[in-house]
Amino acid sequence: MPSSSTSDRRRYAIVGTGHRAGMFVNALTGTHADVGEIVAWIEPNPVRAAVHEARVAATVGGIRPVYHPDDLEKALDEQRVDRVVVTSIDNTHAELVSRALRAGVDVVVEKPIAATATEARQISDAVAETGRDLTMTFNYRYSPRNSALREVIASGEIGRVLSVHFDWALDTVHGADYFRRWHREKVNNGGLLVHKSSHHFDLVNWWIDAVPERVFASGGRRFYGDDGAHAQAYEPTDGERALSSQGVDPWFLDVDADPYLVELYGPEAQAVDGYVRNRSVFDAGITTEDTLGLVVEYAGGPVLTYSLVAYAPWEGYRVVVNGSRGRAELEVVERGSVEFGSGGSAILDPSFTAAFGEDTVRPTGERLIVQRHWERAEERPIHNVGHGGHGGGDELLLSDVFRGRDEPDPLGRAARLVDGLRASGVGYAGNRSLETGEPERLADLGLGVDLG
Ligand SMILES: NC(=O)c1ccc[n+]([C@@H]2O[C@H](COP(=O)([O-])OP(=O)(O)OC[C@H]3O[C@@H](n4cnc5c(N)ncnc54)[C@H](O)[C@@H]3O)[C@@H](O)[C@H]2O)c1
Repeated sequence: MPSSSTSDRRRYAIVGTGHRAGMFVNALTGTHADVGEIVAWIEPNPVRAAVHEARVAATVGGIRPVYHPDDLEKALDEQRVDRVVVTSIDNTHAELVSRALRAGVDVVVEKPIAATATEARQISDAVAETGRDLTMTFNYRYSPRNSALREVIASGEIGRVLSVHFDWALDTVHGADYFRRWHREKVNNGGLLVHKSSHHFDLVNWWIDAVPERVFASGGRRFYGDDGAHAQAYEPTDGERALSSQGVDPWFLDVDADPYLVELYGPEAQAVDGYVRNRSVFDAGITTEDTLGLVVEYAGGPVLTYSLVAYAPWEGYRVVVNGSRGRAELEVVERGSVEFGSGGSAILDPSFTAAFGEDTVRPTGERLIVQRHWERAEERPIHNVGHGGHGGGDELLLSDVFRGRDEPDPLGRAARLVDGLRASGVGYAGNRSLETGEPERLADLGLGVDLG
């Protein structure tokens, strides 16, 4: 998609106007307002849609109507929409994306492409039938540190990739947040293996430029819930005691402390649809896993070992890539330990907003080390490109999504249908493996596209 002039701005509808929609709304009313405009909201909760509408009206003026998702086709037709941005709950993606494609509209869809393999198939069938454009927003690719690792691997200096080890730790604030609302029910998002890990599987697929074939998974819900390790035989840690003596419940999300959260999920919005933003992470009935380990085999031989936990005391990740001529190691600390602000609440997602305080033993930061056989280790620079989430990576993603490029990206960061299917496919096969106890092949998922 080449850049457009002001006169031919593309007409966008935002489908699902919750928290994530904000990033796209800001882009279309700010940096990219010259190439796109929002002309409609498609959302079942008019209170949440009104939050975004009020902000857009204050920035660019005008009025944009709100449509219920049942009236998607009517909205697209009446408002002459060119492209939708789908930022709704994961298990609604398949229906909304395929209906939009069949109504003759291009689609930008947030990860994961869909919650299950069956739902993903609905999307690949609709793309095949209509030939329309589908863009996946894999923003992690655009983080300069992740791009730097891709450059190292693509340069060939560590040789042919033979194995990858990837350890992702979500902490007791951000990780816990997946157990407070819709993410806690696996039916809504395919569990963290699909909802969260699809980001990580996409990174590996893209870093090593290889196609995942077979997955063995193990894990379950071990920590959260009424029968998890925290609730069972519970003894508070010294840290927890110290916080409660200051009147802070570290497991509780105080929605009232953040005016934006109050607008989106407070009593007025909740009265419409019963969406409670801050349920207890120690409730009964939580079906999403919090502890996961996978082995993934790739075409051509590379093997990935992967671990995700959602209750670590710090947040970040470690990646090791072993090649035939050496090894690359990326270590990222997004928050070295959880600290609480003066109002008694913690930053929810430290990858977007710098957290309070700084851990002296494990300071926030990132380090990429390359070491070839028989040589000393070298640290490689990571060029952060500006402000905003993920070292300025989100800005780069939005530019690709809304403006496209005149020249191809040497890093190949723009993601399409097949990338979404390969990434979520590892999660779907992993979920199947959790059920069967056997390794599962992506080719048997019936995704409707040749992943190779
Ligand atoms: N790439 C990233 O880093 C990233 C980060 C956060 C969220 N996300 C993705 O963005 C999406 C939204 O997440 P969120 O955190 O904003 O959730 P949210 O709960 O804040 O917002 C979801 C919205 O979808 C609406 N909705 C429910 N059913 C719908 C339907 N049938 N049609 C249209 N809208 C419907 C809800 O009412 C809500 O307003 C998810 O797919 C999530 O995976 C991606």
